[in-house]
Amino acid sequence: MTQQEREQAVTDAVLASFEQTKDDRLRELLESLTRHLHGFASEVRLTQDEWERAIGFLTRVGHITDDHRQEFILLSDVLGLSMLTVGINAPVSSAATESTVFGPFFVEGAPEVPLGGDIAGGAKGTPCWVSGTVRSTDGTPIAGGRIEAWEADEDGLYDVQYEGNRTAGRGWLKSGPSGEYRFWSVRPSAYGIPDDGPVGELLAAAGRGAMRPAHLHLKVDAPGHRTLITHLFAAGDPNLDRDAVFGVKDSLIVEFVEHRAGTAPDGRILDSSWASVAFDIVLEPAA
Ligand code: BEZ
Ligand code: FE
Repeated sequence: MTQQEREQAVTDAVLASFEQTKDDRLRELLESLTRHLHGFASEVRLTQDEWERAIGFLTRVGHITDDHRQEFILLSDVLGLSMLTVGINAPVSSAATESTVFGPFFVEGAPEVPLGGDIAGGAKGTPCWVSGTVRSTDGTPIAGGRIEAWEADEDGLYDVQYEGNRTAGRGWLKSGPSGEYRFWSVRPSAYGIPDDGPVGELLAAAGRGAMRPAHLHLKVDAPGHRTLITHLFAAGDPNLDRDAVFGVKDSLIVEFVEHRAGTAPDGRILDSSWASVAFDIVLEPAA
């Protein structure tokens, strides 16, 4: 038996072991995973030591993961697997708003605010007026769409990264009768993804940074439409071309306009500078 035949025999045996998998899709996934994983190991001529280090790395990823920290998702994010999956499952219509990564900082049960309400909840930062409309790809306004937003404060931290259980910088509201939406938040800031664990070691070893450009997360649901998970990225952020998780899309880069102290569109009087951003959300009908 040649070396190549010996290696192929292992791959063939594993492939054969999955042949009886009843679920067709699961069988397809397992067989393809086997082919690619084995192909990878053969291609790089994986050493025993490297195999052990990889197992050690994945073990540490598992150990640091708990209800508050998902290092496996972070690993998927920095490897670009999350964004590849987003891309594979992208809306069919080019008119629909593009999607990006979900990230680990979404929290179920955020407070509802009225149209024009404030999701800041005490988060530190420049007040920011966010407004636009929610429409379907054919232009029809969507009333009653559920728009959920979350973001880091001006120190680049999400509420869940602080001690205590304060909810800040997150909330949801319903679009109005003409699909309009508007709310106050704070201007989002650039921040570094958690890099004090194994994923951080990987970034450091590769000479890569951990920064994400400033962004506001949005999750938008409406009956009869695909859920949209996206961000609004702040134009001009120096990290736009080096997002640690490859989430930036040109169509999602928007101007956060700075304003001097004065009266905001809803009549609120601000005694210090504030910002505003306008963005129309376009949802694709569900298949
Ligand atoms: C975020 O934008 O919240 C995020 C996304 C991926 C990894 C870490 C954070
Ligand atoms: Fe984020």
